[in-house]
Amino acid sequence: MQNCAIELKNIRKTFGPVVANDGINLQINRGEILCLLGENGSGKTTLMNMLSGIYQPDSGSIYANGEEVFIRSPHDAYKYGIGMIHQHYHLVDVFTAAQNIILGLDEKMDIAAVNDKVKDICDRYGFQVDPRKKVYDMSVSQKQTVEIVKVLYRGAEILILDEPTAVLTPQETDKLFAVLRNMRADGKAIVLITHKLAEVLSVSDKVAILRKGKYIATVNTKETSQQELTDMMVGHSVTLNIDRPKYDKPADKLIIEGLTVTDREGIKRLDNVSFTAKTGEILGVAGIAGSGQRELLESITGLYPITSGSIKFVNDKSENIELVGKTPMQIRQVGVGMGFVPEDRLGMGLVGSMGMTNNMMLRSWRKGKGVFFNKKEPENLANKVWKDLEVVTPSTEFPVRRMSGGNIQKVLVGREIASRPPVLLTAYAVRGLDINTSYAIYNLLTEQKMNGSAVMYVGEELDVLLELCDRILVLCAGQVSGIVDARKTTKEEIGLLMTTVGGSKEAN
Ligand SMILES: Nc1ncnc2c1ncn2[C@@H]1O[C@H](COP(=O)(O)OP(=O)(O)OP(=O)(O)O)[C@@H](O)[C@H]1O
Ligand SMILES: [Mg+2]
Repeated sequence: MQNCAIELKNIRKTFGPVVANDGINLQINRGEILCLLGENGSGKTTLMNMLSGIYQPDSGSIYANGEEVFIRSPHDAYKYGIGMIHQHYHLVDVFTAAQNIILGLDEKMDIAAVNDKVKDICDRYGFQVDPRKKVYDMSVSQKQTVEIVKVLYRGAEILILDEPTAVLTPQETDKLFAVLRNMRADGKAIVLITHKLAEVLSVSDKVAILRKGKYIATVNTKETSQQELTDMMVGHSVTLNIDRPKYDKPADKLIIEGLTVTDREGIKRLDNVSFTAKTGEILGVAGIAGSGQRELLESITGLYPITSGSIKFVNDKSENIELVGKTPMQIRQVGVGMGFVPEDRLGMGLVGSMGMTNNMMLRSWRKGKGVFFNKKEPENLANKVWKDLEVVTPSTEFPVRRMSGGNIQKVLVGREIASRPPVLLTAYAVRGLDINTSYAIYNLLTEQKMNGSAVMYVGEELDVLLELCDRILVLCAGQVSGIVDARKTTKEEIGLLMTTVGGSKEAN
């Protein structure tokens, strides 16, 4: 077939006893956006790594333009026009965009010519890149753009993007999709991995589904639905809803008054923020990206310098303990836990070479319990996380580094939730998690709330905030623009508060 760029036939790939891919057939066409969908650990990244020359299949064949090919290195992949944008970027911080783009090419360093070619690519697809900007000055989304331009610069006709939207704001995602649509119009073949079904439905032409390493089917996006895709991914019919019970005796747990912080440039990031988080409650935090969400959580956990205001923690004896001035370690010991998704999962409190149990131990050890002699508690925690979140791993001793991205994430978030802190702060907890696991996380957070924890949930998806939370605090430009009852509010009301500095005065 003429518009078929790449075809995979009966591909198998194992890692020791783990069968990552088994009998996979896939067709990637020019002028099409194909979404690759599957639960965490179903084999998506492994499969694409065989097209980008990182792994070779144990058996099966790969055809490029109708001819069988053997892709033994990333260099080989480029020869066949295949370029992959990985989830973790490989840019050199101290280099400019242009220097990174030509890195490793034999080309002469004629920077003016490089800049011209970069500008051409940008104009053609609607990118914005400043070739002279240094990587360390770039946002995550700008770095991603450089990675994409780098691949196009090398002449890629087939682009594979592994969860590019996991680290983007909704606005940045829209921009990326506009670029992908331009590439499609230009005849490129695009493979996109994402767990967000709304994105799959809005951007793709076809969807290929993997389940536990096996190929299930490829369907036309126009002819499918979220429910059908979910059922195919999971293998049986699933109902996804969030139970939102009410806790009967909420009490103040975290009392924040007049919190103000300024960044290094002297700009106010939080401006006179006051609110109370209660036991038995999930307090959502909504806002356009960069409205102060990060600074708020970092202030509470002692990671951000505070200009003025107070943060009081109410302990079991109803004593108010001031957290301002305490170190992050002291704050954690008081009982404030944080489960959030960093850009670099392995950099954040997980040791890649260790298994789940030892990674649980890291956390308990910090609590000062001296569990080096008692492995029972971390072992139980590890088993609980393994079971509750269906972590795909052969055992709790398997090095977390070898798990799939989403499964590493499950260990990270699961550990925080399982350690049951009286105050649990979460931000973007479900980034990179499949839909089933996302709901498992929502249910675990609800379980913690019903156990009497005060939970704060920072998230981007308004639908989830509306379904999961009891109250929602809305931030706009570092100020509280409203605190609303999640059972009574609407998306429109929250949307309005997100863009109204100061907001309405109904805050309770
Ligand atoms: N280098 C490796 N050594 C051992 N096992 C591996 C290795 N790479 C991947 N695996 C295993 O192969 C399986 C598939 O992993 P893969 O990363 O392809 O999943 P995925 O579909 O991309 O998941 P996610 O959505 O979480 O990113 C997992 O069980 C994983 O643990
Ligand atoms: Mg993956």
